[in-house]
Amino acid sequence: MKTLTKIIATTSILLSTSLFATDGEVLFKSCIGCHGANAEKKALGKSEIIQGWSVEKTTKALKGYQDGTYGGPMKGVMKGQAAKLDDEKIDAIAKYISTLK
Ligand code: HEC
Repeated sequence: MKTLTKIIATTSILLSTSLFATDGEVLFKSCIGCHGANAEKKALGKSEIIQGWSVEKTTKALKGYQDGTYGGPMKGVMKGQAAKLDDEKIDAIAKYISTLK
């Protein structure tokens, strides 16, 4: 019985961490400091307000920051942010941002 309980507990931990990793809302927490809790701010007073941006627009911007094909004068800041994301995470964050209003 004990072993079974252990297996169940381990499996649920594994499941929740993998869901966690691609949860856009959780991932977006690292963006709130500059972009605002609902993406309603101009980050550092400079960015566009990204609240409600379409998935395509956010994805293009984040991938562009990664490869240097997108951005304004402050793109260095976002390059560091985007470097931490992979395609799956970008997708999750982009979907989350598109729901913000
Ligand atoms: C340290 C502050 C900071 C953090 C943290 C940050 N950003 Fe930004 N973000 C900026 C700035 C500054 C810009 C404008 C950069 C430029 O000049 O292109 C920007 C621009 C953007 C843009 C494009 C908007 C535009 O002006 O074209 C998107 C999309 C974006 N950020 C998403 C995110 C996401 C998603 C995260 C979290 C993973 C994040 N940012 C974290 C500061 C930040």
